Amino acid sequence: MTTLGTPLSPHATKVMLLGSGELGKEVLIALQRLGVETIAVDRYPNAPGQQVAHHARTITMSDPAQLRALIEAERPLLVVPEIEAIATPMLEELEAAGVVRVIPTARAARLTMDREGIRRLASETLGLPTSPYRFCDSMAELQAAIDGGIGCPCIVKPVMSSSGKGQSRLDGPADVAKAWDYAMAGGRVSRGRVIVEGFIDFDYEITLLTVRALGADGRVETQFCAPIGHVQVAGDYVESWQPHPMNAAALERAQAIARAVTDDLGGQGLFGVELFVKGDEVWFSEVSPRPHDTGMVTMITQWQNEFELHARAILGLPVDTALKCPGASAVIYGGVDAEGLVFDGIDAALRVPNSELRLFGKPESFAKRRMGVALVHDADVELARQRAKQAAACVKPRVP
Ligand SMILES: Nc1ncnc2c1ncn2[C@@H]1O[C@H](COP(=O)(O)OP(=O)(O)OP(=O)(O)O)[C@@H](O)[C@H]1O
Ligand SMILES: [Mg+2]
Repeated sequence: MTTLGTPLSPHATKVMLLGSGELGKEVLIALQRLGVETIAVDRYPNAPGQQVAHHARTITMSDPAQLRALIEAERPLLVVPEIEAIATPMLEELEAAGVVRVIPTARAARLTMDREGIRRLASETLGLPTSPYRFCDSMAELQAAIDGGIGCPCIVKPVMSSSGKGQSRLDGPADVAKAWDYAMAGGRVSRGRVIVEGFIDFDYEITLLTVRALGADGRVETQFCAPIGHVQVAGDYVESWQPHPMNAAALERAQAIARAVTDDLGGQGLFGVELFVKGDEVWFSEVSPRPHDTGMVTMITQWQNEFELHARAILGLPVDTALKCPGASAVIYGGVDAEGLVFDGIDAALRVPNSELRLFGKPESFAKRRMGVALVHDADVELARQRAKQAAACVKPRVP
């Protein structure tokens, strides 16, 4: 039985989000609707999620001492990591000591914060199909890995990075030095380690949102959302849509891979499993043990969007992954490096049929920072994609 308290009272159910960007903000809103007392943590003040939570805390989440001090002071029931750059060994320590429950588990947060942990688990432990890969600590090792079997084209990524940062495609030997330097500049920590992956010539890629939630018998059950198709530019998502059509064999394989990896990571919550598909063949790429950026489309396509699914699953509540109607999302970038932007054209954007907008409220914009998203539903996914891009293009961020 799940019992929830009254926020700001002695019996409040307290949940702490580590990372309060646009995805954390929606999880916080879903929790708020259930009367959960929320603590939004980020590395800078006035982060999107901090604007909708009961409490806002600003710390360096990659600093174990700061993280421990905050968790011990707040004593939340659950700690929900929403970003990768967190001192996860400290979370493991606090979880092991029974101080707090980490979503989905502290081990899952640690394994997925680093491309090496999750790739070795998926490929070497679970035997799932992935691109061929090698880890390298120097340009000479990278060169040797490419010459020794990975070949070209291939993709080089810092082991610690997201949203395509520091990632580049190599088409020939001349690109090695450039890729190495770019990875060193774009990684999250100075430790220079990269993964080089053979290029998979996929037909399409999907995110398979996978939920581990309690059934009526109190045991964890796995449920899948309809596949989400997406387009990535330079490793960053620019549009997504749901459902993406898949043949029965590929869908079955995709679900089997997603089940295997999420079973191993364990715990309760929603996962974004990234997969490449060619014909009936499916490759595991990576997994987020939390809502996924491409899954923002579910805010218009599902009865329970990915954030509500996550909130319900972590609280031990039942979930429904059913699709409401097909739809699409398109990203709105800042376009400039500046603080306190204003956004023109909101009315025009919302005049696009079946459209909605989310403006995240980020205090600072960068040219390539995601500041909002346009959402459109339509029985015809292609039309929804077109209109989502049209609505996103109507929104013109500018310096006031
Ligand atoms: N081995 C590969 N073969 C072909 N394409 C790839 C490969 N690896 C990555 N890509 C392309 O680059 C995109 C980003 O790669 P990946 O998901 O590993 O990086 P990321 O920085 O974690 O991105 P994000 O945080 O946006 O998910 C993939 O969605 C895919 O389009
Ligand atoms: Mg990815």
